[in-house]
Amino acid sequence: MGQKRTNRTHTCGELGVNQLGQEVQLCGWVSKRRDHGGLIFIDLRDRYGLTQIVFDPALPGGGPSHELAGKLRSEFVLWCKGKVRARPEGMTNSKLATGSIEVACTDLMILSEAKTPPFPIEDDIDVAESLRLEYRYLDLRRPYLQKNLLTRHRMLQIVRQHLDQHRFVEVETPILYKSTPEGARDFIVPSRVHPGSFYALPQSPQTLKQLLMISGMDRYFQIARCFRDEDLRADRQPEFSQIDIETSFLDEEDLFPILEEMIQKLWKDILNVDIPRPFPRMAYAEAMNRFGSDKPDVRFGLELQDLSEIFKASAFQVFSNALTPNARGIRGSVRALVVHEKADQFSRKDLDDLTKTAGSYGARGLLWIKITPEGEMQSPAAKFFSAEEKAALTARLNLKPGSLVLIVADKNKVVFDALGAIRLELGHRLGVIPKPEDKKFAFLWVVNFPLLEFDDKEGRFFACHHPFTSPRPQFFEDFIQGKNLDHIEASAYDMVLNGVEVGGGSLRIYRSDVQAAMFKLLGLTPEEAKEKFGFFIEALQYGTPPHGGLAFGVDRLAALLCGVGPIRDVMAFPKTQKGTDIMAGTPSAVTPQQLQELNVMVVKPKTT
Ligand code: AMO
Repeated sequence: MGQKRTNRTHTCGELGVNQLGQEVQLCGWVSKRRDHGGLIFIDLRDRYGLTQIVFDPALPGGGPSHELAGKLRSEFVLWCKGKVRARPEGMTNSKLATGSIEVACTDLMILSEAKTPPFPIEDDIDVAESLRLEYRYLDLRRPYLQKNLLTRHRMLQIVRQHLDQHRFVEVETPILYKSTPEGARDFIVPSRVHPGSFYALPQSPQTLKQLLMISGMDRYFQIARCFRDEDLRADRQPEFSQIDIETSFLDEEDLFPILEEMIQKLWKDILNVDIPRPFPRMAYAEAMNRFGSDKPDVRFGLELQDLSEIFKASAFQVFSNALTPNARGIRGSVRALVVHEKADQFSRKDLDDLTKTAGSYGARGLLWIKITPEGEMQSPAAKFFSAEEKAALTARLNLKPGSLVLIVADKNKVVFDALGAIRLELGHRLGVIPKPEDKKFAFLWVVNFPLLEFDDKEGRFFACHHPFTSPRPQFFEDFIQGKNLDHIEASAYDMVLNGVEVGGGSLRIYRSDVQAAMFKLLGLTPEEAKEKFGFFIEALQYGTPPHGGLAFGVDRLAALLCGVGPIRDVMAFPKTQKGTDIMAGTPSAVTPQQLQELNVMVVKPKTT
């Protein structure tokens, strides 16, 4: 006898009253088993849904199946055949797509048995994430994660279609390559054939996509894997994907509409939400001044207030120090956040916690002022404020009994970072930040970023975006002459959604002399520049079109479309916060033979 075919006629999410009376075949996993007075019920699960299967010994031919059904356990894989019938009155389940029917099984086969899973395969389970990551393939059976992966898939289909319609060409670029500067450490791979030489995994395909523009590819995109050895956070993974885009002969005014339209399609198709266009644009300086962040969540207020003018002659040393220009002539500032009527809700411990947050961004302290019910200023620093300063502060911040003021005085970067983070903490605490289910989406472009950032410790400039970003045209002269470097703005832009940087890009330098000047300014000797980017500077000399582009974070966009927090939840096999994969045990040691073959020696880690 030939083997019986275990094919299916339908999926487990498909059957309804339209198939009543039909004989069907289903395959799937046992989600639940219930024995009820001689009848056995199974919820059979696959990617598409759940279908109730009933095993009734009284059915013609139902006896053997019923007997076999007694052996079924969770997560066994089955094939079954039977007739679709209506569930008895009162037994229907309106929450389930297939809830009005069941399949009365007359033939059953166990295709695979299963060990008892370490956690139940259902949503809303309270299981340590480490266990779920160890058994990721089981975790991925949960409808929640399956839905997220499907949304991510759908998103990429829409993206590919949209970019294709706009004549973008999908080109793959190498993974074993050379370091690209995106601000993180490289992952490196030793070459066996070239002892002592290493490939670097790309932090992004930045130079390669620019080379494709020099090749005349004109419009490129790639769903690109990127690798960055950096501190991980909920929205950062060591390997992640980008929708990487580059175009020739286009500037922001041509590029933004194409990208906005793509976002609009995604939100319409996937969430049925209309996103108005064009997206608002906000200058970097405004974003920092108002929100303390270059990725502001503009869905709520709690904006920063600049108090520097009020305290410009302050006797309080913390303020006067911040406002005194440093060796490079750059002044810090005194800025505040104000919460009205809620001062009582903040205990000393809360204020200490917020101070810790400020400290983690380099602030030496967080000064608080509470306005007592009597209208008095209560603060560790109140005694340093003059009567005029108090009056000006009260008027400027509209202070009333119950107001709480939180002040940071430092160099601007510290002030913005600290208050930007505290603003978000306050927003959560006060419940003013919309939740994913509110479906409030505030897209914006942040533009006119600074080109360079001076690092006090290293005593030199760094590129704020990456070293291929062009200055804005009006700053070109200054840049070439090396003047006013702190004030030069870049043709760089980020797309921001609800406080998340979903994409970033720029118009590029396309002159080799300007590119060489940039490398020099960033402290690369001509030899270093040649060794690292010689091929690129050379390429720029063979007819380079003006070009620019952007990369979206696939994982972040998918997480926002799915309404989930950590990007792990939209990735099939994410890494832990420590960059490991618990399931496979990665990274892991290699054998001495492998090391020998690669001419690599492992040295003891440095103890710091
Ligand atoms: P950038 O470094 O801004 O630009 O990266 C672009 C976008 O990629 C996402 N992203 C990440 N997502 C998850 N985990 C990470 N570790 C991570 N790092 C970045 C973010 C970010 O906005 N080559 C340039 C783009 C260009 O200039 O065209 C680049 O990579 O959403």
